[in-house]
Amino acid sequence: MSAEPYAFSAGYYELLRTAAGPDGWPPVGFFTDLVPEGGSVLELGPGTGRITLAVAERAASVYCLERSATMRAVLLSKLAQRPHLLDRVTVLDGAAPDFKLNRRFDLVCFGGVLEHIPTDARLRLFTTIREHLVDGGLLAMDMVLDEPVPEWDEHVRGEVRAGDCRYELSTAVRKLGPDLGRLRYVYRTYLGDELLSTETVERDHNLHRREPVLKDLEAAGFEAVGGSVLHAPTYRPEEDDNPGTLVARAVAGRP
Ligand SMILES: C[S@@+](CC[C@H](N)C(=O)[O-])C[C@H]1O[C@@H](n2cnc3c(N)ncnc32)[C@H](O)[C@@H]1O
Repeated sequence: MSAEPYAFSAGYYELLRTAAGPDGWPPVGFFTDLVPEGGSVLELGPGTGRITLAVAERAASVYCLERSATMRAVLLSKLAQRPHLLDRVTVLDGAAPDFKLNRRFDLVCFGGVLEHIPTDARLRLFTTIREHLVDGGLLAMDMVLDEPVPEWDEHVRGEVRAGDCRYELSTAVRKLGPDLGRLRYVYRTYLGDELLSTETVERDHNLHRREPVLKDLEAAGFEAVGGSVLHAPTYRPEEDDNPGTLVARAVAGRP
């Protein structure tokens, strides 16, 4: 398994996600719609900043906690191209669920991150987040999925061209347990028909189910108030553009 799954892939991630556009996954609009005008936001796992930069257009301040140095580097270089956002976005090296920022936010969000959190760390994560939210503040996430642990052989999931190079991503998943898969990402770089390089990364894919997630949210002092999970408990990829989104409100005085 790779110690830091994004160590070499930040550039590939950015190329492939940008090609997918704002409606690609994770769903940027779902998060930006929740930003209170002029409010404060904490984003966990901002990656290359797809959500961050859109959120920062509305928020007064965005704190980002990202454990990958290469993802942070891409985010910072994108920020450098947007001087009007420079005094609003704070990018910190850190990892959920164990962090302490000594401040509270109006919104805490994370897109495409829950799969990285082991299920036995979920309650700790929600509790830490509650400690960083104002009463009535919102927590927004995606990837609350009731689908079976996926199992598939390696196949091509996306490709993008830059100059004469073609970058191709293949993935494979193996089931390790009822809520755990092992994902393999293979990035291949071609110049014309010539394969220049193959880079592989393996990491865990943790499945967080609706019922235990709702239970942990309540225990941490939240009430669920929105998202596709409340309306469609079973994820149907062919129908659902926002897989497993969930919004919860921090209950005043809890826990
Ligand atoms: C699939 S990417 C999603 C990036 C971004 N949120 C987006 O929507 O494009 C997952 C990101 O979460 C970060 N990450 C994973 N686990 C984390 C943790 N425990 N704490 C902080 N960041 C984490 C990874 O380094 C990576 O940048």
